[in-house]
Amino acid sequence: MTRVSASFLPPVALDRRSGIPMHRQLSEWFRHAIIGGQLRPGQRVPSTRSLAKELKISRLPVLSAYEQLFAEGYLETFTGAGTCVAQSIPGGLTASMDAKAPEPAQSAAPRPVSRLATSMQEPPPPWLANQGAFRVGLPALDHFPREIWSKLVNRHARRMPTQLMTYGDPIGYLPFREAIAQYLGTVRGVRCDASQILVTTGSQQGLVISALALLEPKARVWMEEPGYPGARQALQSVGAQIVPVPVDDEGLDIAEGIRRSRNARAAYISPSHQFPLGVTMSATRRIQLLNWAARSGAWIIEDDYDSEYRLAGHPIASLQGLDTDARVIYVGTFSKVVFPALRLGYVVVPRDVMPAFLSVRNGMDTFSSTLYQLVMTDFIREGHFARHIRRMRALYMERRTALLESIETHMHGRLDIIGAEAGMQLVALLPPGVDDVAISRAAAQQGVSVRPLSMCYADPPARGGLIFGYGGASVREIRESIRKLKSCL
Ligand SMILES: Cc1ncc(COP(=O)(O)O)c(C=O)c1O
Repeated sequence: MTRVSASFLPPVALDRRSGIPMHRQLSEWFRHAIIGGQLRPGQRVPSTRSLAKELKISRLPVLSAYEQLFAEGYLETFTGAGTCVAQSIPGGLTASMDAKAPEPAQSAAPRPVSRLATSMQEPPPPWLANQGAFRVGLPALDHFPREIWSKLVNRHARRMPTQLMTYGDPIGYLPFREAIAQYLGTVRGVRCDASQILVTTGSQQGLVISALALLEPKARVWMEEPGYPGARQALQSVGAQIVPVPVDDEGLDIAEGIRRSRNARAAYISPSHQFPLGVTMSATRRIQLLNWAARSGAWIIEDDYDSEYRLAGHPIASLQGLDTDARVIYVGTFSKVVFPALRLGYVVVPRDVMPAFLSVRNGMDTFSSTLYQLVMTDFIREGHFARHIRRMRALYMERRTALLESIETHMHGRLDIIGAEAGMQLVALLPPGVDDVAISRAAAQQGVSVRPLSMCYADPPARGGLIFGYGGASVREIRESIRKLKSCL
């Protein structure tokens, strides 16, 4: 380490053994000294020649450091005055800068955060903090066809044409949208073509884009009670006012929705497999909902997140397929049918509002990874996707049976099961008066990630429960975890 005091500079510390080039060490030192107030605006600095001499180094790194500092506006030259610290550098930034991130609240000045963000801020609950059995929404990652997937990723990573490596279309890669439109038409009864498919970074983004494109701040929106917390968060993030509308065994209670807010701007629903109760919305309610939306000019946001996994009978056709007034925004995801870290979802958008959706999407993350859109296109087209879903359906049936049997064996009828006909999760209602949050906390300490049902309600429910995501847990894990859970009850 050389420590030389250049005539009127504070000591310049250079470390010859560090891997950082000399010119960078010097320019860093000047930056810190200027921002830290040790060198003042207008103050002269030594010429490159004399600084190099003082520091006993070649002139080259000094020249290069000064050049960089001129380019960044820290130094300037005046004829006759030589090189000086730029006059325009504001004084008062007295904190010393080092390589560590600055600590907040060094000054007394306020550090405002939006009221909306503050109101939404919540620490992550313990049942989301561990990777134990029963995490809601996790598919069977241990059965994902990794070999096929890695071949497809390799294929596209090697051969990706340069024109696809540039910025992509915000709406998504056309062949991928065509594949999605065809799949939705065949399997989900969605009526659309590729021009209506907007590819998103997961369905959470689809929900936020829909809310931003369609809703003014303070717009009233019907939300299923209980409902998906992610949707509530997406709606709240644009300042919407949530109107909780109860769900019964026919799905969302439309008459009650109309009673609570006839003129709501939108309704969020998961009609094929209600989250979290697992109810399928009846045909009567579907028609009532579509009629209300058409009469009052409201939008319906249909979240169809896992209905491929109907374990008995055929998948329920989408609400979008019944809509004759183009009121339904259909939001889907590959998180459950492929894997969540893929972050690919889609929104089926009515034609007239697509421009609004596109400009919102463009202003967000512009577009989703083209590489994975290419990979998914082949995954669907080559039949791997349909095969994977078929295999997972059988596997989830097996896991569901193991879960129901374990609950039956260890809980002796103390839990009432609902919503076990479809998807990858079910709800076990607790005896009245039992605190589901306390049980989920205790379970999390044992490494079991059951989610409390009450967290899906806006108002405290009459009866608490536990949501078991069984898709991602093996039969052995299911049995062991139910034994652990028994001790928490
Ligand atoms: C109701 C519902 N919608 C959507 C999603 C999926 O979200 P994403 O596509 O952002 O992973 C989930 C995941 O758990 C969900 O439960």
